[in-house]
Amino acid sequence: MTTSRVKTRARTEAESPDSPSLHVVTFGCQMNKYDSLLVEGRFQAHGYRMAEEMDEADVILFNTCSVRDHAEERVYSWMGKLKEAKQSRPNLVIGVMGCMAQRAEEEIFQRAAHVDLVCGTRQLQNLPHLVDEVIERRQEAAPGDKAQHLLETDMQGDVVVDRAEETYNDGLVGHLAVMRGCDLNCTYCIVPSVRGRVRSRPIADLVSETQWMVAGGARVVTLLGQTVNSYGEDLPKPGAEEPQLSGRQGRASLADLLRALQEVEGLFSIRLITLHPSYMTPALAMAIRDCDKLDRFLPLPAQSGSNEVLKRMKRGYTVDLYRERIEMLRSYVPDIELGSDWIVGFPGESDEDFEASLAFCEEIGFVQGYVFQYSPRPGTKAFKLEDDIPLVVKKERNQRLLRASEHSAVNRMDRFVGQEIEVLIEAADPKVPGRLRGRSRHNLPISVFGDADLVGSLQRIRVGEASAFCLAGELV
Ligand code: SAH
Ligand code: SF4
Ligand code: F3S
Repeated sequence: MTTSRVKTRARTEAESPDSPSLHVVTFGCQMNKYDSLLVEGRFQAHGYRMAEEMDEADVILFNTCSVRDHAEERVYSWMGKLKEAKQSRPNLVIGVMGCMAQRAEEEIFQRAAHVDLVCGTRQLQNLPHLVDEVIERRQEAAPGDKAQHLLETDMQGDVVVDRAEETYNDGLVGHLAVMRGCDLNCTYCIVPSVRGRVRSRPIADLVSETQWMVAGGARVVTLLGQTVNSYGEDLPKPGAEEPQLSGRQGRASLADLLRALQEVEGLFSIRLITLHPSYMTPALAMAIRDCDKLDRFLPLPAQSGSNEVLKRMKRGYTVDLYRERIEMLRSYVPDIELGSDWIVGFPGESDEDFEASLAFCEEIGFVQGYVFQYSPRPGTKAFKLEDDIPLVVKKERNQRLLRASEHSAVNRMDRFVGQEIEVLIEAADPKVPGRLRGRSRHNLPISVFGDADLVGSLQRIRVGEASAFCLAGELV
């Protein structure tokens, strides 16, 4: 899972230039990107227009990430730049939403007093009203009153999604949060405390939202969840008279959701971000086998190849168990490709532990890998452990694992050279005229020369070359 700043697009409908305007700056994972779209939609329904740039906006919201310390510091640095803007534009409203807002709460006002509003991860739909409240309080304040801060981080209740009346604007490759939260408790991870326990949306709602996306031009739906294969664990158990589904005690599971989305007309592909090995069941493997719309790629982070470290991380599996799950999965879907996230420099990680990660990366043969240096997060169990791996060692391990991961990726990618594969052409390459970018059924990026009219279509491509990051080929 990548966590970089992602740009969400402002909407294009005719909007009155007199309406108040909003600009959202999004950090973090794909779920934040989706959440920013939800929030933009709620503001539009409330009479706002979207501002392309921050300095044109009446309201600026930062949708934030807390997964590593660095992710939070970047937000503070961006917010810092607005301190002067706030002095020259006293009506400006600045809000912080998302995971860092949920974690840091009041701390944000202490470090950035020019922020007006802090809103957690489960109150997104209330943001337009919270901004109204900030403005009202400001109007009621007497001259010289201290700035008032508004904090809303209640975790009860669910995020309300209500997009049917909106215009879809997430492009060819759309995103859809099917579940939120995490019921696991990896000792390094802030996510369970900032996103709360698992909450899944009913299959029927997700099918309708996908149909709405496809009607608006989406050809791919990326199903998002912190542990997307725990989808359904919280949904009600069916009664004795009702159909029993493939999840625990007859509940709906990701397998059932995939089978339902497979039937959505006009949808080419389904992608998943991110799975956890503990929820990798035979029912899911069978659904993947049966649903040809599901891309043959799963991000299934191992995090470490050392049993000792996995235990201290409380990942809930050993290296053997991970291996068994992959064997089971490959017995149903032999051509599945896998991606992993890795943490290096977890407290107490010895040279042997680290070597075990290198070896495991090579053994499984991941086609994609993200490597992160351990970052202690306040409030997590691992925070109490001494962060004893020196920064230089973390950096060196990061580089070495990255190289191992690229080595493993290029081996997997090489297997496609000479093959004719099906590719969804996703965009024209902005850097090279005439070059198109697409993704294969294994979710591998591929470049090809061709007419820009092909964007949005499925094409057959003969693969000519492979690197660790990309394939290249020719249209057949
Ligand atoms: N739910 C996913 C991961 C979510 S967080 C899973 O269970 O695999 C995305 C990635 O950030 C994680 O896979 C992990 O590699 C990394 N990460 C999470 N907490 C971290 C921390 N405290 N320090 C460094 N990396 C971390
Ligand atoms: Fe964090 Fe672990 Fe949950 Fe992933 S499974 S979100 S790493 S607690
Ligand atoms: Fe970051 Fe929250 Fe996503 S902590 S990775 S934005 S779930």
